[in-house]
Amino acid sequence: MDLDIRKPTPQNAQLWMLMSILHFDSFHVFLRTLLMRYLASALILSAACFSSAFIPSNAPTPRTTSRHQDPVVAEKPMSAKDAALGRARKQAKMLDSLYKTAIVIITKNYVNDSKDLAAGDAFQMLFDSMKEQGFHEVRLLDASGEAIDDDNLPQNDYEKAAVKAILAGQEIYEEVVTNDGKQFLKSTTAIPMVMDKCIMCHENYEGKKIIGALGITLEIE
Ligand code: HEC
Repeated sequence: MDLDIRKPTPQNAQLWMLMSILHFDSFHVFLRTLLMRYLASALILSAACFSSAFIPSNAPTPRTTSRHQDPVVAEKPMSAKDAALGRARKQAKMLDSLYKTAIVIITKNYVNDSKDLAAGDAFQMLFDSMKEQGFHEVRLLDASGEAIDDDNLPQNDYEKAAVKAILAGQEIYEEVVTNDGKQFLKSTTAIPMVMDKCIMCHENYEGKKIIGALGITLEIE
């Protein structure tokens, strides 16, 4: 049998048709594979981009070996000492408010007679208890010049200076002292004449605005 496919015989025409169909089919398969591959890589690429959008911005950035990095302007970090002083100040402020508010509430609601237990007396007991437990020390100071209990008169240079500054209008008088290798914050604020009831026991408070001071000493830690 003659197998020259170039000859225009009916058999060859059939063969040509078959071959063109076959070729077309394989070309189609080739195209499809190509398309699938591109589609797959496009999918992988977009998935990578999408997930990178969710990586937290504070994730460690890779180190670069470049010597030409922009200078980083870092915020000056607060020293541990400053932070400890800040905490001590905050605590002193809280205690100052707590004691003064409580003294006023008790005087207002429970002290009706000069023979009643004065809030001043009750709180001296509370202050002793705080000192005994090693929490902090509190001084109820006289700034009127005449104290019911002389123990409450300013006793040392710090207390005298604090009362003087407070009578001159200073809101708060502070000092940081070192004792036995430990640092302490001493903070003193004014006690104003808040109600007429005070005069029931402190006659000399009449007409005065600032009559005492509250001094708190606590460790800076
Ligand atoms: C029921 C009487 C009474 C009343 C009311 C009273 N106090 Fe006193 N106060 C005392 C006594 C007693 C002391 C002494 C406490 C002690 O032993 O340290 C004192 C002490 C003080 C001190 C320390 C100086 C000192 O005199 O020894 C101040 C400051 C003070 N009181 C302020 C006030 C204020 C402010 C009020 C009004 C909110 C007030 N007191 C109301 C009885 C009273």
